[in-house]
Amino acid sequence: MSIPQNRVFSGVQPTGNLHLGNYLGAITRFVELQKDFECIYCVVDLHAITVWQDPDTLSANTREVTAAFIASGIDPEKHIIFNQSRVPAHAELAWIFNCVARMGWLNRMTQFKEKAGKHRENASVGLFSYPNLMAADILAYRATHVPVGEDQKQHLELTRDIAQKFNTDFADSISKNGFGDGYFPLTEPLIQGTATRVMSLRDGSAKMSKSEASDYSRINLTDDADTIALKIRKARTDAEPLPSEMKGLEGRTEAENLVRIFAALGDRDLDDVLGEYGGSQFSTFKQALADLAVARLAPITEEMQRLCADPGHIDAVLSNGAARANAIAAPVLADIKQIMGLLHD
Ligand code: AMP
Ligand code: TRP
Repeated sequence: MSIPQNRVFSGVQPTGNLHLGNYLGAITRFVELQKDFECIYCVVDLHAITVWQDPDTLSANTREVTAAFIASGIDPEKHIIFNQSRVPAHAELAWIFNCVARMGWLNRMTQFKEKAGKHRENASVGLFSYPNLMAADILAYRATHVPVGEDQKQHLELTRDIAQKFNTDFADSISKNGFGDGYFPLTEPLIQGTATRVMSLRDGSAKMSKSEASDYSRINLTDDADTIALKIRKARTDAEPLPSEMKGLEGRTEAENLVRIFAALGDRDLDDVLGEYGGSQFSTFKQALADLAVARLAPITEEMQRLCADPGHIDAVLSNGAARANAIAAPVLADIKQIMGLLHD
């Protein structure tokens, strides 16, 4: 089996509060890539449990992310949507990568430092080895491209380091078994668009996040039109009118964030947006932004609600996706065992 040329893999955690950052940074890209790639989109429930999850909430959130994928325009028949824990290759390959990755590499991961905070000794071992599971997700499909938001860049660099080390450590066996001069691809990150790092609506120095306590910091994909408009009206800005060029946004992080969101939601260039709104007060711009956000998100929210009312259908999508994912990942795992000298059927 040669390395596939055009395979996309990405994942979203079912940890609730899917927000505009997830949508613009990741899900809209997932939708676009369907044209040119074979796409595999995974609800990463094994990543979610690196911090404790209430069991009923976890299954509801898994269905909700699936509904968001479908409502946004991912086609589960042409492409694959499934939940991670259903395909055993992820956990199995993660163990192998626990033995490939070095402690020093993981010690440098900034997301672990942020998430573990001062309570490092009390963090789960899974939270520390989380990036190895992410590498396993991607490499179990030998995926060539991974669309993500900016915050995942370091994890994707680690994935390349793991692939490279495996290819080097087992070079002789890889070639002896007929896999040429490398078994894993060096996966390309796709961090694209004007909104790869959507910031909090309350604090331009913090990214929009599912776990921020204030609901006013983010627009959730489940928010209704009035809530979206209210959150945008209340979003923090400064007192100056909007500039007509990007350099006028330097040091104005909250203003820049709203302009980036506007451009991404309207599929427009940043310069084009500032050309139209340069000189406008925020009251005018926020009204236009609220209208745009509602026009773009309301149909998705509605479709998500419709889909979530029929959990049986969502479960069938996930189960069908998992069978197709397993058909790709199981033979890859058999190759890896063959390469490493682990006896297998
Ligand atoms: P997570 O919610 O951590 O599973 O993230 C799912 C996807 O959304 C990943 O590709 C993240 O990089 C992306 N993402 C999360 N937060 C943001 C944000 N504030 N801005 C842009 N992308 C984001
Ligand atoms: N770690 C990613 C996040 O929190 C989610 C994720 C898990 C992922 N496995 C992946 C993203 C594989 C891309 C590819 O956002």
